[in-house]
Amino acid sequence: MDHFEYRDGVLYGEEVPLSRVADEVGTPCYVYSKATLARHFRAYTEALGSHPHLICYAVKANSNLAVLGLLARLGAGFDIVSLGELERVLAAGGDPAKVVFSGVAKQEAEMARALDVGIKCFNVESRPELERLSAVAERLGKVAPVSLRVNPDVDAGTHPYISTGLKGNKFGIPVEEALAVYELASTLPGIEIVGLDCHIGSQLTELAPFLDALDRLLLLLERLRERGITVQHLDLGGGLGVPYRDERPPQPFDYAASLLERLAQWPHGANLTLLFEPGRSIAANAGVLLTRVEYLKHGETKNFAIIDAGMNDLIRPSLYQAWQAIIPVDARHPRDSALYDVVGPVCETSDFLGKDRELAIAAGDLLAVRSAGAYGFTMASNYNSRPRPAEVMVDGDSYHIVRRRESIEDLWAGESLLPDAASGET
Ligand code: LLP
Repeated sequence: MDHFEYRDGVLYGEEVPLSRVADEVGTPCYVYSKATLARHFRAYTEALGSHPHLICYAVKANSNLAVLGLLARLGAGFDIVSLGELERVLAAGGDPAKVVFSGVAKQEAEMARALDVGIKCFNVESRPELERLSAVAERLGKVAPVSLRVNPDVDAGTHPYISTGLKGNKFGIPVEEALAVYELASTLPGIEIVGLDCHIGSQLTELAPFLDALDRLLLLLERLRERGITVQHLDLGGGLGVPYRDERPPQPFDYAASLLERLAQWPHGANLTLLFEPGRSIAANAGVLLTRVEYLKHGETKNFAIIDAGMNDLIRPSLYQAWQAIIPVDARHPRDSALYDVVGPVCETSDFLGKDRELAIAAGDLLAVRSAGAYGFTMASNYNSRPRPAEVMVDGDSYHIVRRRESIEDLWAGESLLPDAASGET
């Protein structure tokens, strides 16, 4: 459930009419709901109840400082994949001791900084990364807390671009190799083994792949115990899906209940701290992208609603053929409806936010693209030299601009002409 609802035909974010945000901040503009973010986060913590756990929000889904700061105050940890994400978490007041560091290409400087601030765990994805991490830690006189990300080879049943737990993916260590890499880890001076993790994919709408993955990890833990290697936590990654259209993904409560039941059957399960790295299920439906219709164009075979947001602002439809609801902000006016392709200003045929949408709209109307709070702004670019949109957080009956719209000058900040251009030489 989210807090974007119609009242007398006008779309609100919490207590704020979205037309007010559009008029005052302009479009395109991302709008997030504080109450929805908090609700989605608490759904996880409440579902896990008294079982020891830590919810490490996946920063890549939405890394705005206001979002991170809110979640930090609610007690969240964070799953990061770069130095930039680590620094964002710190800038937002996040606790480094609750940070887990994922990603296949960790650089020495990133490892050093993470060791320096004292993160909770490195989710190591390969043997060479483990060796590099041990060397960096030793050099700094530290010991790196480590979990190995194993690839359990389960089919997450999701879009191939966001499926990460199959043998052919670049992620993780094959489950058959993991024993040997753990044994190596136990001998390396800069490494302390603290956990085991996996992340099998994103936008999962069934529990079975998660439970299959859990079973494979528990089997591995058993074999590790036989060799005298134990871990304190099990991190099952993120991946729980959200309703974009008519999907009915399991709620965090059902997810946690099934996992806890499975874990209880395992002799050592009760003491194992559970970590999760949810991104989408916390942020996606806590945000919309507000956009205005510039033109309606009626072609021979198609009608186009040309809007002021494009694939550079929200790339999911172009990149994954993702379907996100597009709804009018003001549904009070009687208009003729028609079937539209909702397209942006970018010079690419793939620049669409929706296809074949039944809409009753006129030029100048405002639209809201729903479920845009995750992998929306974070995947935005300046393609076609378009400044990235503003980000706003509604909170009850007020709202805050949590990132200003980029200016035209921002587009070339950091660039320079060649020195001879200044003197007029060619
Ligand atoms: N942990 C790891 C190691 C991950 O790679 C990811 C996402 C997550 C956690 C968070 O997964 P979530 O709970 O959000 O499903 N851009 C794509 C999604 C890419 C997900 C990449 N990894 C999209 O817009 O659908």
